[in-house]
Amino acid sequence: MTAAFAAASPQKAADGTLTNECYRPQYHFTPRTNWTNDPNGLVFYAGEYHLFFQHNPTGIDWGNMTWGHAVGPDLLHWTQLDHALLPDRLGTIFSGSAVVDGDNTAGFQDGPEKTIVCIFTSAGGTSPESKGRPFTQSLAYSTDRGRTWKKYAGNPVLGHISGGNRDPKVLWHAASRRWIMALYLDDAKTPNAYALFSSPNLKEWTRLCTVEVPGATECPDFFELPVDGDPKKTKWVFWGASNDYVLGSFDGKEFKREAGPFKSHWGANRYAAQTFSDIPVADGRRIQLAWMSGGKYPGMPFNQQFTFPAALTLRTFPEGVRLCTQPIRELDSLHKGRFSWKGTLEPNASPLNGARGELFEIRLVVEPSKASSIGLTIRGMPIKYDVREGTLTCLDKSAPIGLTGGRLALQVLVDRASIEIFTTDGRVNMAFCFLPADDNKTLSIFAEGGAAEVRALDVWDLKSIY
Ligand code: FRU
Repeated sequence: MTAAFAAASPQKAADGTLTNECYRPQYHFTPRTNWTNDPNGLVFYAGEYHLFFQHNPTGIDWGNMTWGHAVGPDLLHWTQLDHALLPDRLGTIFSGSAVVDGDNTAGFQDGPEKTIVCIFTSAGGTSPESKGRPFTQSLAYSTDRGRTWKKYAGNPVLGHISGGNRDPKVLWHAASRRWIMALYLDDAKTPNAYALFSSPNLKEWTRLCTVEVPGATECPDFFELPVDGDPKKTKWVFWGASNDYVLGSFDGKEFKREAGPFKSHWGANRYAAQTFSDIPVADGRRIQLAWMSGGKYPGMPFNQQFTFPAALTLRTFPEGVRLCTQPIRELDSLHKGRFSWKGTLEPNASPLNGARGELFEIRLVVEPSKASSIGLTIRGMPIKYDVREGTLTCLDKSAPIGLTGGRLALQVLVDRASIEIFTTDGRVNMAFCFLPADDNKTLSIFAEGGAAEVRALDVWDLKSIY
């Protein structure tokens, strides 16, 4: 650990001032200070979720990449720890993943605790210390529940292949008893190419195959999910940073693409999502976090935030099997007051008149009926569904959404600096960084061109996680 980085490790202010600034997200993760981008190394071990994140320990903009680290018991409340991984002679620390080495395949375990192993990109040439070195893949491990970290002495474990090859995502493939790594190749000739590798011990890797995800680059994720909840009917999802994915089969050696690419996100600010490793079988969820990329936070000590955690499922629709993204149910535990309404919504009526606040969850089920458009206005900003076009528009981005049984069903998460919109079935999601006008804390619902039938409208005020 270089002293400059250690000294810069931000400390929580005793008076809590690093949690209540005017644009500080109140239930979306932000580091206390400075720049963050991709979530890294998402893993569950011994009752704790570990959230690592690309972090600049010394600046408000991108640079000096390290892995910041936070832990929490419930995917909502996080405690930021010291930085886990700091730059070394192989490079600054770019994105990657973490796994629990349950069978001690790497041989790092030195006591009763299982080892948590981080697999990351050593970004050679991005610091004076690593000048002239290429991008390679390396390991670090912890035998004390993630409190201290050691780099593996044999780094790198995977040498340079092409360009800025990076962002290893590792999973345990039980059937072949091998670790599998998905890696972005950054090959100039095939810019959408990733590769899969396998290893018995996380240290020696054999290349298996190449996977192309048209339109996608960077930060792969690779996981198996049941279709419609049926454990006997599964598909593998290969995912790229831009929220595009393909579906296929995987036998431990070869990924065969069967369908896609598909898009799951239509908003402005969602990138480099990663799912948690080692979620207990009894839970069984595939939980994803993304960087809410972009956005400005004037005057704030932090820069950038993450999406609210979402659970991923595969479900069959008339057009085929698709990935669905839904906020995790833990959100319910942040509920405070609830306002509910249903009935005929006339143009110019305002049943939510008087609703004010900053943190909301809104669930809406509406039949457009005679309305030409319907929507919500959040702190002055409309989310509008055009019935004829079948599109939902927010902040200059539109998503195609068909009515199901004649109904539009939405779930909307509002925080101090973001809006996330999900169709209730999870087919479509839109994430936005959003800085509302300070003096407008109102919420309203509207119908235009005729009356709509609101079947259910529930608005919850949410508690802050701080
Ligand atoms: C994606 C990305 C990754 C890289 C990291 C560097 O946002 O460009 O490919 O590892 O960010 O911060």
